[in-house]
Amino acid sequence: MIITENIEQVRRERWADPGASWGLVPTMGALHDGHLSLVRAARAENDRVAASIYVNPTQFAPTEDLDAYPRQLARDLDLLRAEGVDLVFTPSDAVMYPSGYQTYVSVENITRVLEGASRPTHFRGVATVVAKLFNIVQPTRAYFGQKDAQQTVVIRQMVRDLNFDVDVVICPIVREPDGLAMSSRNQYLHGETRAAATVLYRALMAVQAAFARGERDANFLRALMTDTIAAEKLARPDYVSIADPLTLTELETISGTALCSLAVFFGKTRLIDNLILEESA
Ligand code: PAF
Repeated sequence: MIITENIEQVRRERWADPGASWGLVPTMGALHDGHLSLVRAARAENDRVAASIYVNPTQFAPTEDLDAYPRQLARDLDLLRAEGVDLVFTPSDAVMYPSGYQTYVSVENITRVLEGASRPTHFRGVATVVAKLFNIVQPTRAYFGQKDAQQTVVIRQMVRDLNFDVDVVICPIVREPDGLAMSSRNQYLHGETRAAATVLYRALMAVQAAFARGERDANFLRALMTDTIAAEKLARPDYVSIADPLTLTELETISGTALCSLAVFFGKTRLIDNLILEESA
């Protein structure tokens, strides 16, 4: 497995065999089974697999957990090696944002709601770094997890708008046995807070059950999530949402498909989760 922070070396490897397809799995490290499911999908669908490990400072606000974000490079590299990854790009800040850097990618309307409302600069950082990774690696396909639902919508929009020649593949959420969606930030949770964190999944399951019974009133479903979270004393809701899955505008009534999502604080730790509500055919 090649490990490099050098952009020229990445390009040399990528184009050594121009006929080979490449799958890219962008990550911020602290890998868990959710990331590894993306790597496995990339491994199954491409001749070569690249992963990137880079804690991207531009997607963190000054008040957020950039410094505390878990960094476990040696362990991450072992996990990627065991999955048969061909190349890992581990750039430094100086490689990604050299002195004098001043170009950013800003996706507009769909970044102003949900995560974007709470984290106004987040998606500008995500879109910028993902655009740079696409240009550096030039993958055939790129793999992202459905857990970051809005991120997937933003990246697909950016790929369409800027004509990137990359197939974006979204892989299902991977959960712990008790339903908690896997996330590098779960490492911040301990004891009763870890137990309380299952409230996100419980709120989603309450919505799913009501939807399965025929409930289509989005206000009712949002209230169901709010009430479920309110019953958990360690949880502080940030938002609950039943939105159109492409425009991310809040719905009154569900007809067809909806993205049900929520963000909840446990102390300083903020967790997100989501579920697609779909009429069965
Ligand atoms: O989902 C993440 O881990 C990050 O937002 C990404 C896509 C690697 C960009 O830094």
